[in-house]
Amino acid sequence: MVHLPPGYRRPDSVEATPTDFPDYRTTALRSPRRPLAVLPNRLTELTGPVFGEDRVQPGDADLTLANGGEAQGQRIVVHGRVVDTDGEPIPNTLLEVWQANAAGRYRHTVDNWPAPLDPYFNGAGRCVTDADGHYSFTTIRPGAYPWRNHDNAWRPAHIHFSLFGRSFTQRLVTQMYFPDDPLFFQDPIYNSAPAGVRHRMVSVYDHEATTDHWALGFRWDIVLRGREATPFETEDDDDDE
Ligand SMILES: [Fe+2]
Repeated sequence: MVHLPPGYRRPDSVEATPTDFPDYRTTALRSPRRPLAVLPNRLTELTGPVFGEDRVQPGDADLTLANGGEAQGQRIVVHGRVVDTDGEPIPNTLLEVWQANAAGRYRHTVDNWPAPLDPYFNGAGRCVTDADGHYSFTTIRPGAYPWRNHDNAWRPAHIHFSLFGRSFTQRLVTQMYFPDDPLFFQDPIYNSAPAGVRHRMVSVYDHEATTDHWALGFRWDIVLRGREATPFETEDDDDDE
C-alpha cells in the first residue's frame, strides 16, 4: 500500500472558503452546481516524478533581477515554512509565485490599466522547500490594482502562491497579503475566507529577515491542513485576480 506524504492527505474537515461568494461577482458563474467529486490518488500520482525538483535554479527565487536589469520598487524578502497539521516540515515542495509589479500591473495581455510596466520585472518566481520546509523569495512589494468587481474596487497588495505535491493533481493555490493593508475592508476575495482564518493569509513583518540597507523581511508560514490550515482557493477561482 502506498501512503500519501503527510501534507497531501485529504482533509478531514476544513473551514472552507465558499465557492460561491456573492460579493465576489464572478463566482456566480464559476462555482460548481453539483457536489464535488473526490478523485482517488492513484499510483501515478504517488510514484511519478516530482515536478520541479531537478529544474529549479537558485536564481529563480529572486524576482528583482530580470532582463538584464533590476526591478523598481521596495525590495522585500518573503520567507516561511510549509508545514503539516503537526508542524512537521514539508520538504522538496515546489512553490511558484506570481505578482503585480510595484505599480500594481501584471505583465499580461489583458492587464492594460494605466500603470507602468517595469522592463526589469517579470513577476514570477519559484523555489523548492528545503529539508526544514523553508522557502524564501526576494522580490519587490507589489502595488494594489483596480478590478471591475464593484465600484472603485482595488485588490489589496498580494502575492499568488501555488504549491505542488507529488504531481499536477496535487496543487494548492492561495494568496499572501501584507499586514495592515487599508484595502482589506472592500476586497471580497480576502473576505470570502471565514473571519476567523483570514489572518492566516496575512504575512507578518519580520525584522530578523530584514537586511540593513537591502530589504524588508516578511514571514508567512503555510499550513497545509488541519485546524490551522491556510485558506486555499478552489480550482474554479481565477488565479489572475
Ligand atoms: Fe493578483
